[in-house]
Amino acid sequence: MPRVFFALWPDADAAARLHTIAQRWHGALGGRVMREDSLHVTLVFIGEVALHRLPDLRAVAAGVRRPGLRLGFDRSGCWRHNRIAYLGMRETPEALRNLQAELAAGLRAADFSIEARSFSPHITLLRKANCQETVVAVTKENPATEPVVWSVRDFVLVMSSIGANGSRYEQIGAWPLL
Ligand code: 2AM
Repeated sequence: MPRVFFALWPDADAAARLHTIAQRWHGALGGRVMREDSLHVTLVFIGEVALHRLPDLRAVAAGVRRPGLRLGFDRSGCWRHNRIAYLGMRETPEALRNLQAELAAGLRAADFSIEARSFSPHITLLRKANCQETVVAVTKENPATEPVVWSVRDFVLVMSSIGANGSRYEQIGAWPLL
């Protein structure tokens, strides 16, 4: 069964800037740099889903009516529990919370089991990072010099498969924000 999730995908310019930050962090934190073309913000993680349920996922997505938004990633961090170094936002815009909540509610109403954990928007830049206190402190002093900003015009459905070089992501649907 395919593994799927809904996500926001940065444009090429934002992805390039994110990748540059990831490479810079890699020097201090080690781990594995995420591929430039796989950087994203997960909106709702679904996990394994039967193929015959994909049309239901698409129907939920098509019912979401939300305005476009501008996101600024201005906070760096490293989670020790899963060794992810990421960029996040000091404040999650209400428009993003609303988009995520509407999508999650639609999916639950369509009988998809969505984890109830709170939404913590982030872009994973490194996996298996060494999030030691000292190194993280160094990283925090050198966050993105300017927030990485992009205008979000759509959200996407992504299929993930595990390959030799980590996960590979394929976009299998996109829905515009209005
Ligand atoms: P991560 O980058 O923080 O690991 C594909 O795996 C995407 O879905 C990744 O962005 C990953 O987040 C996220 N993801 C994987 N498992 C998840 C889960 N159980 N709950 C929420 N998000 C998950």
